[in-house]
Parts: sequence; structure tokens; C-alpha cells
Amino acid sequence: MPRLCILLFLLVVALPARAQTLPYLDPSAPVDARVEDLLGRMTLDEKIGQMTQINYQVLNRAGDYSSNAVELVPEKARQLIRDYHIGSFLNGIAIPAEEWFTYGETLQRINMEESRLKIPIIYGMDHVHGTNYITGGTVFPQQINIAATFDTTFATQMGAITARESAFLGHHWNFAPILDLGRNARWPRLYETYGESYEVAARMGAAYVRALQAEQVGPHRMAATLKHYLGYSDPRSGWDRTPADIPSQALYEFFVPSFKAAIDAGALTVMINSGEINGEPVHASHYYLTELLRDELGFEGFAVTDWEDIQRLVNMHHAAENEKEATKMAVDAGIDMSMVPMSVSFAQLLKELVEEGQITEARLDESVRRILRVKFMLGLFEHPMPTRALLANVGAPAHKQAALEAAQASLVLLRNEGDVLPISSGARVLVAGPSANSKRNLSGGWSLEWQGAAEERYPAEMKTVYEALRTALPGSQVSLARETPERFVQQAQNADVIVLVIGEEPYTEGEGNFYDLMLPESQRVLIGHAKATGKPVVGVFVGGRPRPFPDEMNLLDAFVWAGLPGFEGGQAIADVLTGKVNPSGKLPIVYPATTSHVVPYNHKPSEHAVTPRWVSYDFGDGLSYTTFDYENLTLSQQAIGSGENVTATVTLRNTGSRAGTESVLWFLTDDVGRITRPVRELKHFERVTLQPGESRTVTFPITAAHLQYPDAQGRPVLEAGSFTVRVGDDTAQFRLR
Ligand code: GLC
Repeated sequence: MPRLCILLFLLVVALPARAQTLPYLDPSAPVDARVEDLLGRMTLDEKIGQMTQINYQVLNRAGDYSSNAVELVPEKARQLIRDYHIGSFLNGIAIPAEEWFTYGETLQRINMEESRLKIPIIYGMDHVHGTNYITGGTVFPQQINIAATFDTTFATQMGAITARESAFLGHHWNFAPILDLGRNARWPRLYETYGESYEVAARMGAAYVRALQAEQVGPHRMAATLKHYLGYSDPRSGWDRTPADIPSQALYEFFVPSFKAAIDAGALTVMINSGEINGEPVHASHYYLTELLRDELGFEGFAVTDWEDIQRLVNMHHAAENEKEATKMAVDAGIDMSMVPMSVSFAQLLKELVEEGQITEARLDESVRRILRVKFMLGLFEHPMPTRALLANVGAPAHKQAALEAAQASLVLLRNEGDVLPISSGARVLVAGPSANSKRNLSGGWSLEWQGAAEERYPAEMKTVYEALRTALPGSQVSLARETPERFVQQAQNADVIVLVIGEEPYTEGEGNFYDLMLPESQRVLIGHAKATGKPVVGVFVGGRPRPFPDEMNLLDAFVWAGLPGFEGGQAIADVLTGKVNPSGKLPIVYPATTSHVVPYNHKPSEHAVTPRWVSYDFGDGLSYTTFDYENLTLSQQAIGSGENVTATVTLRNTGSRAGTESVLWFLTDDVGRITRPVRELKHFERVTLQPGESRTVTFPITAAHLQYPDAQGRPVLEAGSFTVRVGDDTAQFRLR
């Protein structure tokens, strides 16, 4: 009998307790000590497995691109984990949270059974504007709209709510924020960025990273991803993943700041740009991936490739003869994890490279340390399994309300001739245009599915602009135009106002490459027809890129840029058109009036001098249903020495008849620069709400950091001379001695 007791004691108490004494399993031990202890126990294969990420489609029955079903074939997962020790999987499409829970739990359980050292899997998702891949999840406006609010509160809320709705579901790692600078109107991923200003991208990105990573969801946390490092968003041709020519000085001035700010905010991971800069594929660049990212910018997390980007060094960039050579190039350059993701080729080739001595195991240790450190910091070793009890987080009413308020604040009123807006209740409204009654067009790519989904996949409770207007104007007769222009003209006779919802269909990445930035002719013709009816015409643009239509723009009585306002966007647009909400958004990009001279707001003087009106609307434009006056712009000093500061103050007054919110945008111009200086650069912004007649003093504390710019080596240049401060329509100068 005693023998049995001893055996039971050993099995139940002693052995597991001994297992718990392994340093890496001791949650009270310092992270770095846990990393070193675990690393020391790992085989070469296990290290390589941690550096290998596989796509979810490999795990479903088809096992390839032919099916996007989120469906786990346990034996496939078991084999990959047993034979290749795979440490990360990614992605899926929108399925109910309950199904994600089951998926995440099954996959992690298989991993804990098969993993000798019980290293949890880290699962990556593209929840880039809310939980767009969870059925019923809260889907915010795309980042370009968050930028239009000029209020980091909305980026903070999007980050926190994204984590709150997914971190407990087995989604440990989010592939956001996108910190690429939206400087190229033709680029299909412009809407995924925070627009043209690096100040906006830096502050929004840092706020999002802090919020997402700080959110404690039960025992779970989520890692952010800074993407796509670096210089991805201004391809010469405008087409996705095509070459970019970015001189080092411009890279430091325009493309580095948003990444630097988010790294300083503690981002745990970075995803690498698939493209090339000045002939050098970023995935093969030791300079970008190690010297700049780590030595200069101080990044300490791990760097994951983008999709198939090691293979693309061979088949897209032709920078490597074969995948083995490409693997060596990318690992030597400084990647830590390969998003292979449809095969285990990376693991096989990396093992050969180590066995042949072409890559040292010490180099792998660098990457594995970084990956393990993130897994420890997320608490994955203590809580690897998802938590069913938190399922109610998904789509919580307060979250949906936050997304609605972000959408409302992101809408930009650019034109309102004769105060045709807001539409009064009782008015007869004819709604027309390709996005008048579309849910999918309101949300763009990365919505339920990669390229957006079929209309019927969108939530039943989601409203199109037409449906929302019907609800918002109960006393009105709101009708939807028939397709043919002739019928449309006939219907318009019974309308007091026509609302045209124009713009783009969903797309992302290469699928969004196109041949003409101009707004499609069919939509321009429709505007002409609407104008010919003699009724007031309100244009609403829904889309990811600003599609010029200069002639027809002048036919509109009112114009609202709505960007991609997300699942609450239809309601938000109706709230603004009917005056329930006073619009407060401002353009985070230029709205060009031409397809041949399309340059960002902070262009160089020589890009602007000879062209009268190359924009329909400029960066920072945005009206309200009230009016704001900027008064008494003053500077604390007219001349300062280096190291001294100057404070700009202005009085903002609501001179209209209703409460309103104004984003106060402060621009600086270095009037003379050895390296040519932008005609203006946004350096500070603040959102202010005022009652009618109320005024507020707003300040901009100007420091040397605002006055200097980087040289080609990234070193700050501070030049004596004149600087112009611009806020509202006012300017003031001061000199730096
Ligand atoms: C895609 C995108 C990237 C995304 C990744 C995983 O190619 O470039 O933004 O996070 O692959 O889906």
C-alpha cells in the first residue's frame, strides 16, 4: 500500500512541481533569464521552428489557396508541429468568435501535446481596423479616416477594442498599425495609412500601439506590428510592391518618424516591406533591417517578413538565384521569422544553411531570443489557451458606439453651397450612385475577407447610406434611384435633394492596382445628370483613394469625403447629412484635381509654383455646420537663439449658431533651407469643441525639434533664418539666430 502512495505522491505532486521549477517555466523569473534557460534547452530544429510561420489555409482540408475555410485538420497541425516545431500560424477570414475559440484552443492544445518544451504558438491576425475577421466584431473606419479625426483618442480606442475583442480568442499578435506614409494617391493601400503627415502617423501609430499592447484581456495581451517597414508606400509607378526611389535624406525626414515613434512606444514586432528602395529589396538589406532598425532606431522586438517575401527575392526581385540563397540573404540581413507561409521550405533550407556552416546557430539564437521574449512578455507560457468566458467582448454595444463616433468624427465636409446641408426632415431625398445602397463599399479591403466580401456576408444590422437616411429622416420620403439615368432624371422631379454616393469598390494590395486615378466616367456622367435636374446635389465620396473629378466637382452643391468609414459608416454619413452630428473631420491627404500633378501637401516649393489649382481640396480642409474664427495669432518671441523655444498662441472662437469641434492644425515652414524645405509641414494638432460664442486660447510650444530636419545620415540640421507659423488662415514669422 505505501508503495502505491509514494507513486501517487510522485505523479501528482513531486514531478509536476519539479517541472515547474524549470526556470523558463517560472513566471516570477526575469524574462531574459527565462529566455536563456529555454534557449539552452532547444534543438536546432526547434529553434528553426520558432522562426517559421505557416498560413491557416495549410491546415484546412484543401491545404492550399483553393479554400479560405478556417478549418483545422488536426493531423495536419500535429504533423507540422511534430516534424517542424512550427511556432506561429496566421490569419483566416471572419468566422464567429465561438468558432475562433474552438480553432485556437484545438491548435494550441495540439501544440502543447506535441511541443517537447511546451513553447506556445503565437497566432497573427490582420485586425487592421477593428476585429474585421470576427463575425459580429467591431469594425472601425480604416486608418485614413482615423487620421481625418486628428484625434489620437480614436486610434487609442481602436487599439484597445481590437485587443479586447480578440486577444482572448487565440489571436495573440495583430498585424497593425500600418505606419507607411500615405504620400502616393495612386497606391492601393493609401487608405490603410494615416495619410500624408508623418506627425499624424507618428502620434496615431504610437497611441494605437500603446493601447493595443497595454490592454489586459483577462490573462491575455496582444502584440502590435509596425508595418511595412520601411518606404513601402511611395512606389514610383503607384502600383503595390513596385520600386521606390527614396533618397536617404527623404527617408529619414518622411518615412522614419512614424516607425521611430511607435518603436519608442514599445512595439513588440515589425513586418518588413515587400518592395525595394533604390534598387535594394528591403528583405535583403542589412542596412535597413539591422543598422537602421536596430542600431539606430533601437528596435528590440522581432521582425517578420511579409507574405512569401523570401521566395519573392527570387521570383519578383530576381535578387537571388534560388530560395536557399534568398533565405541566407534575408536571415543575414536581419529577419527573425519567415511568413513562408504556404510551405515549410524556409525551415528545410535554413537547416541546410546551418549544417553547411553558411549561417551560424548563434545567428539563429538572436532571432529565437527575440521571438521567445515576446511570447514570454505576452504571458503565453502562463496562459496559452483562449478564454471562452470573454466571448461576450466581441461586438459589445460600447465598442460599436466607439466605432460609430470614430466614423462620425472622420467625415469631412468640403463644400456646402447655400447651406444645402444638413438635409431637413420632411425633405424628399433621392439617393443614387454605386455606393448608395452598398455595405461592402463602406469598408474597403480587410473586411470579413482580404479583399472585402460579398454583400450578403456583411452584418444584417449594418446600414447602407440609403437605409440609414430612411431611418434618420422618418418624416421624409427617401427613395433609391433606379439604375438608368433616364429613370433617375424622372424620379428626381419628385425630390427636393439628390444624394450621390460615389467612389470605389473594396480592394487591397495588388488587386487594387489600376490604370487611371480619375473618378470613373460613369460616375462623372451621373453627376452631370443629377445637376441637369436642377435639384441641389450632395456628393458623398466613399473609397480608399481620392479620385479626381474637377469639372463635376463644381456641379455639386455639397461634397463630403467619407473615406472608408467601416461598418458604422452608413449611419455616420446619415448622421452628418441630416445634421444630427456636426462634421469635424479634416482631409489627411490632398484631394487632387488632376491625375498628372499629384503631390502631397508637404511638397517642395518647386512642385507648386507654376500650377494654379492642382487640388480640389487641400490637406487640412474641412468645414463645419458652425463657423470658427482664428484670432490674434501671437508668438512669444520674434527671434530666438538655438536651444530657445517660442510659444505660438491663437484664440479660436465659435462664431456660429451651434456647438462644433475644430481640429486646430499648426503648420511650420522653414522659409529657406539648404536642403529644400516643404512648403508647409504639420507639426502639431489638437481637437477643440466649443459652444456657440465660446472661445479658447490654443497654444503650440515650438522647440528646436520642430525646426530641424535630418540630413542624409539622419543627423539633425538646424539652420538660422526665418520660420513661418501657420494656423487657420493666419501666419506669423520668427527668426532663429
Ligand atoms: C499581406 C500584407 C500584410 C499582411 C500580411 C498577412 O501580404 O502585405 O499587410 O499583414 O500579408 O496577411
